[in-house]
Amino acid sequence: FPLERIRNFSIIAHVDHGKSTLADRILEITGAIKADTKNKQVLDKLQVERERGITVKAQTASVTYRYEGKDYLLNLIDTPGHVDFTYEVSRSLSACQGVVLLVDANQGVQAQTVANFYLAFTNELAIIPVLNKIDLKNADPEAVKEQMFNLFEINPDDVLQVSAKLGLGVSDMLEAVIKGVPSPADRCNVEAPLRLLLFDSWFDKYKGVVCLVSVVDGCLTKGAQITSSQSGKSYEVKDLGILAPHEISTEELYTGQVGYFSANIRNTKEALVGDTFFLKGEACQPLSGFREAKPLVFAGVYPNDQTEHGQLKAAIERLCLNDRSVSVSVESSSALGQGWRLGFLGLLHMDVFNQRLEQEHGTQVIMTTPSVPYKVRLQGAKSIQQYQGEEVIINNPAHWPDPLNIVETSEPTVMGTIITPVTYLGDIIGLCQGRRGVQKTIRNIDQNRIIMHYYLPLNEIVVDFYDVLKSLSSGYATFDYEELGFELSYLVKLDILLNGHVIPELSTIVHTSKARTEGKRVVEKLKDTLPKQLFTIAVQAAVGGTILARANIKAMRKDVTAKCYGGDITRKMKLLKRQAEGKKKQMKMYDLDGNPFYITPDPILN
Ligand code: GTP
Repeated sequence: FPLERIRNFSIIAHVDHGKSTLADRILEITGAIKADTKNKQVLDKLQVERERGITVKAQTASVTYRYEGKDYLLNLIDTPGHVDFTYEVSRSLSACQGVVLLVDANQGVQAQTVANFYLAFTNELAIIPVLNKIDLKNADPEAVKEQMFNLFEINPDDVLQVSAKLGLGVSDMLEAVIKGVPSPADRCNVEAPLRLLLFDSWFDKYKGVVCLVSVVDGCLTKGAQITSSQSGKSYEVKDLGILAPHEISTEELYTGQVGYFSANIRNTKEALVGDTFFLKGEACQPLSGFREAKPLVFAGVYPNDQTEHGQLKAAIERLCLNDRSVSVSVESSSALGQGWRLGFLGLLHMDVFNQRLEQEHGTQVIMTTPSVPYKVRLQGAKSIQQYQGEEVIINNPAHWPDPLNIVETSEPTVMGTIITPVTYLGDIIGLCQGRRGVQKTIRNIDQNRIIMHYYLPLNEIVVDFYDVLKSLSSGYATFDYEELGFELSYLVKLDILLNGHVIPELSTIVHTSKARTEGKRVVEKLKDTLPKQLFTIAVQAAVGGTILARANIKAMRKDVTAKCYGGDITRKMKLLKRQAEGKKKQMKMYDLDGNPFYITPDPILN
């Protein structure tokens, strides 16, 4: 294909606005797959994606379409739509010159529509605005066009209308893509030495790592020796081809094309997204890469039973082969045994990973409550041997340094975008304020919808913000966020003690202003959820040495002395002693998330 007849584009949309359905229709119309053979979301390859109906890993397909007597090569680059995967969206976009901005004609513009629009806009991509689901009775295309005009200054006359479900308007849309999205000619140079941009990778049992690349300059041939500009390592290209959407091996990948190659790379960590490859010995200016995906949510993962440790280890390793954005380090806990601390891009990412562990590997796991990374500056940190630098990143609340050594603390923050019907505005503002949010902007996008931007600490939204927002707004409000980096903040470690013993698995990091209320909340909750034992348990929340909240869980006491009315005092003593011994055993208990831990009776209370 000559460069002028190549189009590289993505569909960007809020979750459930119909991106995958539209992709299926495109594949059918262009003959890449047969219509009617139950092609539900062909590009959503993974089982989890199908079950949850969300696209997790970006997938790509190259198709041809005849327009005005000429064949065009359309490279459709599928992108995930959810908040956690903004990073995957942005890396897929870097291989495109345009996007189809797909909006549900019934639901209208939503938080991720806004986030995705700005990603495309700042990448200077051509934007083809399209309304989907116009077959729905409640579709209100005019109102949604007004929203798009108010928010993005998109001319209502430029907005196309399709029904991905019925296939209506899809051909027109493809023609709009051909007309509206520039060919990669401006960006690519056929004559220049080879430059490849790597934008996705996955692991294949037989081929090793498969890299998805966009050929920016030159041409890639089978057998070529290529070098990574990040690592300097060289590889021989064993196989290459296009995805249509299944792999079709070819001899060459030409300038402007999007395709895959494999080169006996064994570890996905070597396939750095954003990396530039060139021919060995012909080093050239790397293409501007993109930021690395940094994990923002951490959780401990433990086998249900320590005998499954090896099995779980293998399962995690296999999954990480396909998902290099997950970070892994070894961790151990007195209650849960040997495990790992995994870092994820967000909560959904964590959930999906967990679900994949269980589904694809038949492994049941225990996950601890998620937390975010914190930065701690230590006093004379250089002299404290276990910390090399002055500033340390703490991914696990249990590793929080002694407060006496801490100079200052910072936490990750985000800019949240919320779109909601006016009716729920008051409740949502209350929610954001309660989460230490600071409102940055608020405006109408039409008569009954509001868009707001909130500055929020990540740790306030990481656990249940999204669920609460949904329930406050009967499901109508949508949310998306963008990282802003670390900000100074007054943070402390809130410990939970059972009978005087700190239970490290229950420690959390909280803002000073919230330590007391959070301590009370956890103590009350534990009081209600911990099962009664044969001995009394004191539940306490503390910061440093200061107890902030306390409750007692009364013993479920079988009164062994009841039957020895008065009488024989020695017999009574003996019985009591025996009961005390019987109680000395550690008790296995379960925390708020159902994770087991162990406590011992308190000699004073019992
Ligand atoms: P993610 O992959 O999670 O981002 O979702 P998606 O945007 O790919 O949405 P998907 O294609 O899975 O569609 C979501 C739901 O909308 C599905 O139940 C589709 O059947 C339905 N849907 C998609 N397009 C149309 C349409 O044109 N009309 C109607 N009525 N329903 C549609």
